[in-house]
Amino acid sequence: MPLLRHSFFFSFTIIIISFVACNSNLQKDPLIATYVDNSPSNDDDGGGTLLFKNLIKENTNNVLSLNKFGGTSSHKLEIVNVNDYGAKGDGYTDDTQAFKKAWEVACSSGESVFVAPQDNNFLLKPIRFSGPCKSNITVQIFGNLEASDKLSDYKKDKSHWLIFDSVQKLLVNGGGTINGKGNIWWENSCKRNKKRPCKDAPTALTFYNCKDLIVQNLKIENAQQIHVSFQDSINVTVFGVNISSPEDSPNTDGIHVTNTQNIKISSSVIGTGDDCISIVHGSRNVEATNITCGPGHGISIGSLGAGKSKEFVSGVIVNGSKISGTKNGVRIKTWPGGSGSASNIKFQNIEMDNVANPIIIDQNYCDKKKKPCKKSNSAVQISDVLFENIIGTSASDVAVNFDCSKKFPCKDIVMKNIDLEYEEEGEAAKALCNNVDLSYTGHVIPRCYS
Ligand SMILES: *[C@@H]1O[C@H](CO)[C@@H](O)[C@H](O)[C@H]1NC(C)=O
Ligand SMILES: *[C@@H]1O[C@H](CO)[C@@H](O)[C@H](O)[C@H]1NC(C)=O
Ligand SMILES: *[C@@H]1O[C@H](CO)[C@@H](O)[C@H](O)[C@H]1NC(C)=O
Ligand SMILES: *[C@@H]1O[C@H](CO)[C@@H](O)[C@H](O)[C@H]1NC(C)=O
Ligand SMILES: *[C@@H]1O[C@H](CO)[C@@H](O)[C@H](O)[C@H]1NC(C)=O
Repeated sequence: MPLLRHSFFFSFTIIIISFVACNSNLQKDPLIATYVDNSPSNDDDGGGTLLFKNLIKENTNNVLSLNKFGGTSSHKLEIVNVNDYGAKGDGYTDDTQAFKKAWEVACSSGESVFVAPQDNNFLLKPIRFSGPCKSNITVQIFGNLEASDKLSDYKKDKSHWLIFDSVQKLLVNGGGTINGKGNIWWENSCKRNKKRPCKDAPTALTFYNCKDLIVQNLKIENAQQIHVSFQDSINVTVFGVNISSPEDSPNTDGIHVTNTQNIKISSSVIGTGDDCISIVHGSRNVEATNITCGPGHGISIGSLGAGKSKEFVSGVIVNGSKISGTKNGVRIKTWPGGSGSASNIKFQNIEMDNVANPIIIDQNYCDKKKKPCKKSNSAVQISDVLFENIIGTSASDVAVNFDCSKKFPCKDIVMKNIDLEYEEEGEAAKALCNNVDLSYTGHVIPRCYS
């Protein structure tokens, strides 16, 4: 425990706090904040940021020269403020058209900054921010973006509220809030109201087919369903993104990663009604560092292999995380009948606090509660999984559960320095293990019987 605490949760706190403090002071002026948002570019926030350093630095220079020389600059940096395109930001006027117009201008300009200013509540219907854009683009959200909660506004595209589609070299930041106003959708969900048919609700914020993307310093809350989805994207950095919705909000995953390669998610606080982070098919090189998770269902790979599909996930590192009061801690879940693989996965330096299933591999996952899970001759192969430095408490007596398939046992599973206790005093936690090729290094509690 001391090791973990020392290296992750405290050493850089002072630096980050001082950054946050000066950032929030300066946010009132979007121009200055363009500059300030450059500051957290330490080694921590990923390769993608490096690509952007020049861009941001250049913006900085441009902005400073704009300020200094009263609007004359030798560089072309277009500042596109949604209020100049008719947005009211009063919380009840529909600002959708203003955002669309402003996006068109920003996207077709040279390097540009799209600004949604502070002290505004922008009411928005679904919007597709389509690329490719002419150049690098920065989206600064200082104010609040609020979703329309009229279900009829989502007729054309029921799956998305805000979507960035095919945009490259995109930076989204600003410290503002994106609010999906999900209540109406949750009430209509079949998980809340059994008489209702099960239908998907929109994802609040989607990045689809994006390359070289940075999303940092944002709040996303009360999503209709998934909060943020990265889909079919490459080279993504997510830093300081806080996500929250009630524990009983249905299917409200925090960050969903699908068919996306090279994504680093760090220093984010996520508490929702479903997975904090879910990583599904086609994702490779996914890194999640310093994630605070809970309430919710934990950090999950899968589900994979639903409907007999062939799906792959590889190269996942979850390093440095605090998971509290969740249903699961770190989990890999696959459906019987699927194929493909989940491999090269590391869960390291994780603190669990009162988590119902801290470590779980479930190769017999079935979501449909009505039908019992059918036995099957195929499964998604799970191999090369490391659980290292995982400590804390389990809310159930089963702290470790490896439920693998008989025909495709889990291979090369390593547990190293694990110490999980049952929250109930005086009772030891258990490990349940089926069809798993497992080895131990160092101090491991609990261990499987056999
Ligand atoms: C976009 O940013 C990159 C990285 O800083 C830079 O190399 C490139 O010149 C920029 N593109 C344009 C069109 O300004
Ligand atoms: C996210 O939460 C952390 C920790 O509570 C806080 O320091 C940070 O300012 C928050 N960021 C945003 C964008 O709200
Ligand atoms: C992603 O980033 C890597 C390393 O920075 C770079 O080599 C690669 O070309 C990038 N891929 C795309 C599709 O931009
Ligand atoms: C971890 O994330 C939290 C919440 O965003 C932040 O306050 C803290 O400074 C981060 N720690 C490190 C070591 O980056
Ligand atoms: C996990 O984080 C620790 C502490 O920052 C670092 O030493 C280690 O190299 C990281 N592990 C991986 C696999 O990135």
